[in-house]
Amino acid sequence: MTHQTGSLASDDVRGMFDRIAPVYDVMNRVMTMGLDRKWRRLTVESVVQPGFRVLDACCGTGDLALAAEREGGIVTGLDFSAEMLVRARRKSETIEWVEGDALALPFPDGSFDAATVGFGVRNVADLEAGLTELRRVLRPGGRLAILEITQPRGPLKPFFSLWFDRIVPLLGHILPGGKAYTYLPASVRRFPGAEELAALVATTGFEDVSFRLFGGTIVALHTATAR
Ligand SMILES: C[S@@+](CC[C@H](N)C(=O)[O-])C[C@H]1O[C@@H](n2cnc3c(N)ncnc32)[C@H](O)[C@@H]1O
Repeated sequence: MTHQTGSLASDDVRGMFDRIAPVYDVMNRVMTMGLDRKWRRLTVESVVQPGFRVLDACCGTGDLALAAEREGGIVTGLDFSAEMLVRARRKSETIEWVEGDALALPFPDGSFDAATVGFGVRNVADLEAGLTELRRVLRPGGRLAILEITQPRGPLKPFFSLWFDRIVPLLGHILPGGKAYTYLPASVRRFPGAEELAALVATTGFEDVSFRLFGGTIVALHTATAR
């Protein structure tokens, strides 16, 4: 089964992130009401150990890579948006920032002990190919953590629908790069639910796949071990 983001090709996604780069960090804090910092810490704590070589794929402006470094990792951040990387480079000189495609990672097999992706897999044009590529660059026993918005469930669902489908796109319209935040709710709807993503991870060379839901079910953290 191939999961594709559908309406947006890689070039469109890259262009979109180049345009929203100046407001990306502010929008993140506002959209998650500041909770993203805690979610990032929990993500790196689940897979990074001191001295681990860590790849943060789709690193954007670098906040998850920075969290991985604080956890003791030797970190490489990769993204295909030059404008996002400009912001990342300002935040750390010790992290290696690489401009590249998550679907064709410029690293040999087994280069990393852990890989993280924060709010990135939803945007990758071919999800299955992206997971397979992450598996390739991990050593056997290497750890994967995926932090991603998921389809909410339970009593808070109507609140999240209002927030993501109405208020966030509205916020986006008053800031540059409005199209990106209109695209956000649609991209979450298209993306596989947490159980389906776990099943897909398990078919791309990983075992011990599990997930936790945060933020009242709006965010999922999937972890797995490379076979
Ligand atoms: C929503 S941002 C997430 C940024 C960061 N990881 C975070 O936690 O805030 C998604 C990022 O994925 C990047 N991206 C999407 N598809 C990519 C691909 N195929 N290769 C590299 N980067 C990609 C975009 O350029 C963008 O910076």
